[in-house]
Amino acid sequence: MKPSHLILAATIVGMASCTTREVVEADYNVVPLPMNVEKAAEGAFRFSPSTCLVAADSAQRANARLFADYVETLTGFRPTVCDKAPRKDYIRLTASNKDTKADGYAITVATDSIVIDGADAAGTFYGLQTLRKAIRGGKGDDVLYPAATIGDAPRFAYRGGELDCARHFFPVDSVKTFIDMLAMHNINKFHWHLTDDQGWRIEIKSRPRLTEVGSQRGQTVIKETMFTDSLKYDGIPHGGYYTQEQVRDVVDYAAKRHISVIPEIDLPGHMVAALASYPELGCTGGPYEVRKKWGVSEDLLCVGNDSVYAFLDDVLDEVAGIFPSEYVHIGGDEAPHVRWKKCPKCQAKAHALGLRDDAKGTVEQKLQNHIMKYAADRLAAKGRRVIGWDELIDNGFDTTAVIMSWRGPQDGGQDGTKTGYKVVKVPNTHLYFDYSYAEGDSIGAPYWRKIPLDVVYGYEPVPADYTPEQAANVLGVQGNVWTEFITTFRDVQYMSLPRMAALSELQWSAAPKDYDGFIVRLKDLLPLYEAEGYNYRPLD
Ligand code: ACM
Ligand code: ZN
Repeated sequence: MKPSHLILAATIVGMASCTTREVVEADYNVVPLPMNVEKAAEGAFRFSPSTCLVAADSAQRANARLFADYVETLTGFRPTVCDKAPRKDYIRLTASNKDTKADGYAITVATDSIVIDGADAAGTFYGLQTLRKAIRGGKGDDVLYPAATIGDAPRFAYRGGELDCARHFFPVDSVKTFIDMLAMHNINKFHWHLTDDQGWRIEIKSRPRLTEVGSQRGQTVIKETMFTDSLKYDGIPHGGYYTQEQVRDVVDYAAKRHISVIPEIDLPGHMVAALASYPELGCTGGPYEVRKKWGVSEDLLCVGNDSVYAFLDDVLDEVAGIFPSEYVHIGGDEAPHVRWKKCPKCQAKAHALGLRDDAKGTVEQKLQNHIMKYAADRLAAKGRRVIGWDELIDNGFDTTAVIMSWRGPQDGGQDGTKTGYKVVKVPNTHLYFDYSYAEGDSIGAPYWRKIPLDVVYGYEPVPADYTPEQAANVLGVQGNVWTEFITTFRDVQYMSLPRMAALSELQWSAAPKDYDGFIVRLKDLLPLYEAEGYNYRPLD
């Protein structure tokens, strides 16, 4: 406990019953910063083991149980959950707030009770996150919430975090912990990168070889040799995949935390693990092996091969059956067209479709658009919308796709924000959390660019010259954790935290930037990381 917080302890303990518990004042200056906090001149609510959480329906009971977990981790006591409010000493969870937007909430802290009223159950959950993060002190302490009213709502509806489980496989428990980390930061979309050249990680029952063959690679390039002329390999097999039952469990775990899981099946490139499983899906017919090194492969799905479309039907239908999310991510990045240019089947397909090089693009770009559109239509028939990387625009996709803009800030509107696309911003200049923080850091990608915390915090997703319509096209912001060079979940946490805290301010808070103020608030978040057992990079 910090000395400043102890001051209250003596007086309050004296005033209250003859308990010897200490009481530590809560602080509403949390990450992400709430929109509006008005503290009353005096008065406070004492949250203690006798306080009950009033939850009148199943959604609020689920919220209450999670809050009880959070409180127990921090204070050591577990509040009980009740259906009806006692005369006093309760925290009531409701979702009847018509005055705020989705995910918003209001909190009224009085001396005898706290009421959290969300716009929806998610809003109540974010109110609980604020109360959780306001807790100071530690095990054995009661919490003194100063009387106040808090009104809060997010800046962006889409608040994402991505984890690449293809380059390195992380077990279900780690994935759930990552989801807990997202929830702590008010993030509501988990983008789960499940397939890539170096591993296929999701069971597809109609295509068993995807996991029998595609989930295993023989060995992996040694990081220090990756950007040299003499690659060396570690000789250690790497593999793993999620069964559909496990995936459903993860989806359910995330849903309880008001997070929707968006799977990514990356097309038509980043598919070598699938080609190794089913070589007939490639232009050359192989043989292929699950890729052991990083970087971009020239082997794509053969767009001229009918069996590729049957494959997409099988995979996308099963994916849509497992994931209830509004969005499915179909990739579309980093697909060189060298094989397609030489492949008789691909060229015959282009001919049959009447494609020509013109000002709108090359034949191969149009072929790529053709296969992306095929996947999108298959998913649209099941009521889903697709997200794709910003290459989608180059290849001519229409504005029905949500663009995930990754190749830098694209502040001139190259991401489609000025031409009618809805866009999620994930610039690799600011929000790629696989890049090392600083020169000399040994964890993370050894790329020349470093992304320190203040660079993340300083990113502005809506350039100043945007019209209101263009600004409204920015659906939200995301941070990505690619794992070519991140091999353990401890390192995933180190690379994510505390950059995820800065990300959450970009996603949630519309307040003017104040890096110094952010750092003060972040210092009070670090004890929560420690209490939850999260690894993080200490502040400089
Ligand atoms: C990407 O980083 N290739 C989307
Ligand atoms: Zn081909």
